[in-house]
Amino acid sequence: MARLLLGVSGGIAAYKALETTRLAVRHGHAVRVIQTEASIRFVGTASFEAITGAQVLTSEFEPDPLRGSYPGEPLPERSPISHLALVERADVYLIAPASANTIAKLTGGHADNLLTAAALAAPCPVAVAPAMNERMYVHPATQANLEALKARGVTIVPPGEGELASHGEHGVGRLPDPAELLAVTEALLAARRGSWAGLRVLVTAGGTREPIDSVRYMGNRSSGRMGFALASEAAMRGAAVTLVAANTGLAPPPGTRVIEVGTAAELAQACDEEFDVCDVLLMAAAVADFRPASPAHDKLKKEAGVPAPIELEPTEDVLSGLGARKRSDQILVGFAAEHGEGAVSYGLEKLERKHLDVLVVNDISKPGVGFDSDENEVTIVSADGTQRSVPRAGKDLIARAVLDDVERLRAERGTDDRGEGSDGASGAGTRSAARV
Ligand code: CTP
Repeated sequence: MARLLLGVSGGIAAYKALETTRLAVRHGHAVRVIQTEASIRFVGTASFEAITGAQVLTSEFEPDPLRGSYPGEPLPERSPISHLALVERADVYLIAPASANTIAKLTGGHADNLLTAAALAAPCPVAVAPAMNERMYVHPATQANLEALKARGVTIVPPGEGELASHGEHGVGRLPDPAELLAVTEALLAARRGSWAGLRVLVTAGGTREPIDSVRYMGNRSSGRMGFALASEAAMRGAAVTLVAANTGLAPPPGTRVIEVGTAAELAQACDEEFDVCDVLLMAAAVADFRPASPAHDKLKKEAGVPAPIELEPTEDVLSGLGARKRSDQILVGFAAEHGEGAVSYGLEKLERKHLDVLVVNDISKPGVGFDSDENEVTIVSADGTQRSVPRAGKDLIARAVLDDVERLRAERGTDDRGEGSDGASGAGTRSAARV
């Protein structure tokens, strides 16, 4: 199942977008639809809404009852700041039919309606299916616009030849059949799915527990959801994922190998064994910095009175140790929970100190994000000096942004030299957004 965003612009072929929607839903995809005002003259929103089970949006200003989510997903706790949430969550954005006017706007970078604004902000692959009268299609302006979009990585689905809408006209400009549009969409999804094929990814998740006695422990509030979201996203992109999970109680993400650990020492040992064969380490676990120096073997009894103060000793800083021995072709991503205004500058210092390539900083002074929450709001700082703020979003979207950053770094450094291990899907660039 994928999240398909369908942009419908004005034209008689809009009726085929309805059938495309129906087919996509039948194939198990969750579909949201954006219509231009002009397209509503050809097909009403109610038809799309009946098929998708979700409100059609046409402008940035109308409320979205699904709060940017796709049918079948849990309703986010709050409404997103903008309607661009719909495209941020999409796995693929198909604009069909794309009128000559919409194509010209996409080429010029206009954002005068929700369809074009979403295209400008799309972090996912974008496909454009032109449909118009032949003379408009072959006009040098339209052809130049399509070439420009193609050069930016947009997939153009060429129109077919046949009878056109104007009475008696025949020529090129017919929107391809819904099955073909869906096939193009699914090919883009498959390329995205395979974009990390051949990569080995090590993820840590959850929070370690350090025994005080045989039943009590020192722990932290990490739920493991961020690490599990990272593991799912990496697996979805085709990586071989090993997930070191500390006390999460979460179901293993499909397609991942899970190593369960309890304490910081067990986590350190698992990472030590797995690190050398990984290409990317995503260190999302909250690892205890201290542990009781002499945990009691049995349960401390109440009758013995208040126990003596628990003496603590430092644990190993696992990430620093791995950072010190990493190869230049490995990418290390740390996660830092920081408090308040200096969060990012503390993070930058940590990035250097631990020899990291990327650090994901979240400001835990903000309510409702980070620990033990479904949502997060982070700044991704990279060793190449880039900083990217990811506004409050579900952890699946944060995971996507983190992996996009890793992908960007690997492509920049030319470390994306997988080849023989790959299943033939193209490399790091495959997942990157088409620049509309
Ligand atoms: N980390 C680790 N081993 C530890 C502590 C932390 O590997 N013993 C990792 C975490 O998994 C995380 C990163 O280091 O990816 C940053 O963790 P954080 O606790 O913020 O770092 P500290 O160096 O412990 O800094 P602070 O003093 O701010 O807690």
